[in-house]
Amino acid sequence: MAEVPGPVTYTILPIPTTSPRLSNLVAKFRDTKLAALEAEPTGFAVKHAEEVLHPISLWQQRLAAPSTALICVSTSNPPGPSDSDEDMLMKEDWVGMATLRGSLPYSTFHLPESGQPIPDDPDRETRWHLCNLYTSQAHRGRGLAKKLVNAILASARGQTRRLEGGQGMKARVRLFCDPSKTFLVNMYKGMGFEDAGMCTLREAFVANGDEELIPADTGSTEAMWKWERRYGLAMERVVDAGTEAD
Ligand SMILES: CC(C)(COP(=O)(O)OP(=O)(O)OC[C@H]1O[C@@H](n2cnc3c(N)ncnc32)[C@H](O)[C@@H]1OP(=O)(O)O)[C@@H](O)C(=O)NCCC(=O)NCCS
Repeated sequence: MAEVPGPVTYTILPIPTTSPRLSNLVAKFRDTKLAALEAEPTGFAVKHAEEVLHPISLWQQRLAAPSTALICVSTSNPPGPSDSDEDMLMKEDWVGMATLRGSLPYSTFHLPESGQPIPDDPDRETRWHLCNLYTSQAHRGRGLAKKLVNAILASARGQTRRLEGGQGMKARVRLFCDPSKTFLVNMYKGMGFEDAGMCTLREAFVANGDEELIPADTGSTEAMWKWERRYGLAMERVVDAGTEAD
């Protein structure tokens, strides 16, 4: 594992969806994710060999609404007084990421066959999907994944307040993960997420915004096993949108 040189500060920033430098940010997002996929072939639902073939327009689409991509940057020196968030994103190393998708309509969010809990009042909550959580190997074990998940929860709350007003509203944040990664399941449990059914790879691709990458024909035994088997663990946490605190 590569050593981290000296003390560093971690800052979590959203990738702006409108920016004169958007094409550079999209390219950096693509390069960071491809490097992550190469380093961690089993960490994601998508694979490097397929992702590397996508046009840049697909990567740009992944940063557009309804997605909010959060990036953890590491800085060795404090930012200059005139450095904007965007300057930091352009200049500094990206050492972690996570994406929040939403708010999502109940009709597409709810997966009837997955065993997902039915909310008491779907009109009093917003719905979000967390995906793409990654930290680079040299910076692991420093709490960055938890920091990113907390930033995702804060973003879901903040966006809910902006969309719906906070009073009495809740934000339901869901994720899918590999249940064999016990430490990951324990991390999410420790952060207040609860089991919320089992998902298929097809459902994961749709929830991640990658529906167009699902093959048209998944009818063979092999494809059914890959795309339609219910093996992913869904977890979710419902947070009160009316307060800033976690
Ligand atoms: C999963 C991942 C994001 C964890 O990142 P991280 O920055 O090391 O996580 P944190 O430092 O915040 O650690 C969170 C907790 O998990 C534990 N943990 C992290 N990696 C671990 C490992 N490989 N084995 C056992 N425990 C581990 C930490 O000890 C910590 O537990 P604690 O709160 O009891 O101290 C990172 O390993 C990764 O990017 N993996 C590949 C992609 C992936 O699997 N993403 C998850 C998609 S759902």
